[in-house]
Amino acid sequence: MTVDPERRGVPLSGVDAASPPCVLLLHGPNLNLLGTREPEIYGTATLGDHVARTEQAAAEFGLTIEAIQSNHEGELVDAIHDARGRCAAIIINPGAFTHYAWSLHDALAAFEGPIVEVHLSNPNAREPWRHTSVVAPVASGSIVGFGGLGYELALRAVAARLAERA
Ligand code: DQA
Repeated sequence: MTVDPERRGVPLSGVDAASPPCVLLLHGPNLNLLGTREPEIYGTATLGDHVARTEQAAAEFGLTIEAIQSNHEGELVDAIHDARGRCAAIIINPGAFTHYAWSLHDALAAFEGPIVEVHLSNPNAREPWRHTSVVAPVASGSIVGFGGLGYELALRAVAARLAERA
């Protein structure tokens, strides 16, 4: 299945309609340390491994991935703004920002396409402060607790949503 950029229901102002639609893959704080950071919780795959896995899944659907990781809330807000009218969808693992960064909530609320929240671990099965997500209310859906498989599932969910809109 491929997604025709002209028919995906997302404003394409400023987009080269001839290029494949992009999905913004956003990672928040400390996720640059994946591979060595608490591997008993987050596994041994690096951020690069997760990006590569998502890119591989995206290629199946004629989508491309734009991957950005930042430890700074404002940079993630800027990346979301920059995706408006340009990217077809967003897949986001906001890291700890998930639990309190309302600026990400608001920026995502202003994005027109599907949004999938991904967590490697299952925050709902961890400390109580992780049970709140300020991103979930503005996401199309959330995929948690499946490790790196979550990114592949998220990409499939995005592709299905885009195909529905086509
Ligand atoms: C995480 C879960 C968050 O609670 C945590 O702060 C992270 C990683 C995950 O992918 O499981 O940094 O987003």
